[in-house]
Amino acid sequence: MNNLSTWKVSIFGLGYVGLSHAVAYALRGTKIVGFDVDRKKIELIRKGISPIKEPDVVKHLENLVKTGKIKVTEDHKDAVLSTNISFICVNTPPLQDGSADLSQVKSAISMIGEVLRNKEEFHLVVVNSTVPPTTTENVVKPLLEDVSGKKIGEDVGLCFMPEFLREGSAVQDILNPWRIVIGEVDKKGGDVLHQFLLDVYRGKLPPLIRTAPVNAELIKYASNAFLAMRVSFINTIARLCELLPKANVDVVAYGMGLDPRIGTRYLKAGPGFGGICLPKDLRALITVSEKLGFDPILFKAIYEVNEAQIRHVVEIVEMLLGDLSDRVVAILGLAFKAGIDDIRESPAIKIIDYLLERNTKVKVYDPLAMKNAKTVLKDRVFYAPSMYECIKDSDVVIIVTDWDEFKKIEIEKLRSLMKKPIIIIDTRRILDNKIPESDGEFLYIAIGKPLPLKLPKRIEDMR
Ligand code: UGA
Repeated sequence: MNNLSTWKVSIFGLGYVGLSHAVAYALRGTKIVGFDVDRKKIELIRKGISPIKEPDVVKHLENLVKTGKIKVTEDHKDAVLSTNISFICVNTPPLQDGSADLSQVKSAISMIGEVLRNKEEFHLVVVNSTVPPTTTENVVKPLLEDVSGKKIGEDVGLCFMPEFLREGSAVQDILNPWRIVIGEVDKKGGDVLHQFLLDVYRGKLPPLIRTAPVNAELIKYASNAFLAMRVSFINTIARLCELLPKANVDVVAYGMGLDPRIGTRYLKAGPGFGGICLPKDLRALITVSEKLGFDPILFKAIYEVNEAQIRHVVEIVEMLLGDLSDRVVAILGLAFKAGIDDIRESPAIKIIDYLLERNTKVKVYDPLAMKNAKTVLKDRVFYAPSMYECIKDSDVVIIVTDWDEFKKIEIEKLRSLMKKPIIIIDTRRILDNKIPESDGEFLYIAIGKPLPLKLPKRIEDMR
């Protein structure tokens, strides 16, 4: 098999990872059959409507469905029988103890295995979901062999292939990967996946590693833990900068990053990392290490620094205003990063929880994430219809997400709308160059830049 029209791919789990892969592979000419246990999701996709706000999925899904390049089905048998590769893209959410819940992976494997029992031709199963080290070999392989009654390497192939996509640029990340990692249980499965990828990427593959599944599983966790470490590292430097006159974390990060061994990317200080991947994978890595009898002090410190960074934002407000009960705080930005509507493990939500614990009145605004925020914040906050409505009559504005809209804020309008003195806490330093020097009426505090040694009198008077 060596051309795209002969590949037929089924994707089990049409969430972020599954749908983004469906769109990316379909754009390259592969026929896709999508399966999900959520019927509502299937119905939406069948109409060409994306259940996620991922830009390129929203842009291409309707056309790909209309032209039959992506089909969806509620029938898992049809999904397996009509394709030669099945990608498993279901969620592995964290359990109470931080370990990954594998129930959706096991259920997908059981469904596929049951159909494979009666399938004649070779079928490849690829686990894309993030799973802890040894899962593919010790959990997925025995289950698949048991349910299908077949031997891996003969009639069925099995690989783990981690995904490295970022929300907001998921489809582009799949189409232009920095690397591909194949964790192959059997060589035949690895060969088939390798050939499929050669066809998808038209012979131009990025660096590709074929290795034992455990290494591929570790590469995924280790990469996310390393990224998390960079953020916690620069946030620690930011705390130091806040205590040193004239220091500026962005200058320090840039200077560090010019050393090619360090690099300038992914060194932006802020309110702490969030999202579904970094915190979850870090916790899973801690649990896995502990279960093996190893105390992963570095991973724990990365996590603790992050939690402390989120609390630090609220501690700054407390340092300024003392008792926060009945103060009005405006939160600009709820998504865990700009460009998306995802609020899972968002620092903004945690900051809001801390403020609410202190009986603060919280107003919120986000260009995209209001709907999702309502599902967790319920009626505990005031949902402002615009950025300016949000800051109106507030004691403090906290910028949590670096949306472009916030960068364009008109300072004079802000001055006229907020209570005096004006206090802005900018966790991403997006207004850095716009704000007048802090004076008696205007106090601008940026994460990673010196905190005021002495508070202006008007703020002292407010306490
Ligand atoms: C992350 C990884 O970047 C992807 O490589 C990985 O594939 C993905 O997780 C996953 O495991 O599926 P994502 O969660 O979409 O992607 O978001 P990032 O862009 O990595 O941002 C994560 C968090 O770190 C955000 O809250 C962001 O604001 C924060 N961050 C990131 C910083 O505070 N500073 C930085 O320099 C970079």
